[in-house]
Amino acid sequence: MNILILGSGGREHSLAWAVMQNPKCDKLIVAPGNAGIAAIAQCAKLDIMDGAAVVTFCEGNNIDFVIIGPEAPLAAGVGDDLRAAGFDVFGPSKAAAALEASKAFTKEICDACDAPTAAYGHFTDAVSARAYVEKQGAPIVIKADGLAAGKGVIIAMTDAEALAAVDEMFDGAFGDAGAEVVIEEFMEGEEASFFVLCDGETVLPIGTAQDHKRVGEGDSGPNTGGMGAYSPAPVLSDEIAERALDEIIRPCMAEMAKRGMPYQGVLYAGLMIKDGQPRLVEYNVRFGDPECQVLMMRLGAQAFDLMQATAKGSLAEMQVNWAEDHALTVVMAANGYPGAYEKGSEIKGLKDLPEDSANMVFHAGTVAQDGAILANGGRVLNVTARGATLAEAQQRAYAMVDGIDWPEGFCRRDIGWRALS
Ligand code: AMP
Ligand code: GLY
Repeated sequence: MNILILGSGGREHSLAWAVMQNPKCDKLIVAPGNAGIAAIAQCAKLDIMDGAAVVTFCEGNNIDFVIIGPEAPLAAGVGDDLRAAGFDVFGPSKAAAALEASKAFTKEICDACDAPTAAYGHFTDAVSARAYVEKQGAPIVIKADGLAAGKGVIIAMTDAEALAAVDEMFDGAFGDAGAEVVIEEFMEGEEASFFVLCDGETVLPIGTAQDHKRVGEGDSGPNTGGMGAYSPAPVLSDEIAERALDEIIRPCMAEMAKRGMPYQGVLYAGLMIKDGQPRLVEYNVRFGDPECQVLMMRLGAQAFDLMQATAKGSLAEMQVNWAEDHALTVVMAANGYPGAYEKGSEIKGLKDLPEDSANMVFHAGTVAQDGAILANGGRVLNVTARGATLAEAQQRAYAMVDGIDWPEGFCRRDIGWRALS
């Protein structure tokens, strides 16, 4: 088969790496890709937000199957355009992508099926939002309703911070994404990510992971897209995962089908766990980045069979045989990230690292120039390893990090601390 992956991050490199191992794959194209992806697949320039352009590209390149990596093209309906043109697609419809693109929509779905989540209010004007904050009091969480590239959530520890956040959102700090605001109860507990596939009807769990959102060690400093991850997440025990499926995920998927917008794709449930009870923080309609990198390391080639079954509606016939070991990924980012950073510095030492089923450097923001690999983004590399234990995976990943010569980059040295402590 000829397969197209849309995206350019570490997530898409790990998807490409897994797909390439599947014997069904004859040709793989990734648009737009990055330097690491270019070493294993063909990269193509393409505006992945332009559904008509993606359809034309698929027709011209005899593509059989399209995997959509990021949320923006899903929310823009690129998957719908492809399906209308007859292509098989991994990724939900525009209507179903509202589970990530609108926080108010997700809350309403949770209400309709009694899924445990934070109490909330939904507002379209600052006056009533401010009144709600004053009534509930801090700590409280203020969220822009729409997609805000991971920046639209403010956890306010005081009433003054909460009121300022409300004003900022209605003043347009997040553009259209903040025209509507959801205000939530602050939930305490430990966070974990649960990944399932859904083909519209059947739900199949494919793994758990924990991200490290803060830039600094011990989870300090500003939020980022994610500085490292590991899988499995010990806090999501089998028992809690079963509760999350029974109380949250399956009811929500059934509610989506009932509304005529069946969900087909990977569903990433962010859960808050306290005293054995999981509650939903949010849904994402795509793989997490860097969580995908550790999931792909454990799933390998079968990942593509599972994606195909998701698109075909045949997940009920599938089983997941993931490796019973641990995977851990360390994100290397450009100095300054998540604030201002420079592009163009050279990364050396990559060629001497092992690359096999237990050790991989997945590229994110990189570009190749005259045989050199240059940094070309904030998050730049995902140094990923497997081990019989999490400690072993961590030790292997940092051994690779130490082989990389890139003074203009940094990483957290404590990825995995929560599970290892
Ligand atoms: P989101 O963009 O929805 O993933 O939110 C970003 C992060 O904010 C989450 O990963 C949580 O760490 C935190 N968060 C979001 N909602 C809540 C909540 N209701 N209570 C506590 N923390 C939250
Ligand atoms: N790593 C968090 C995310 O992908 O949303």
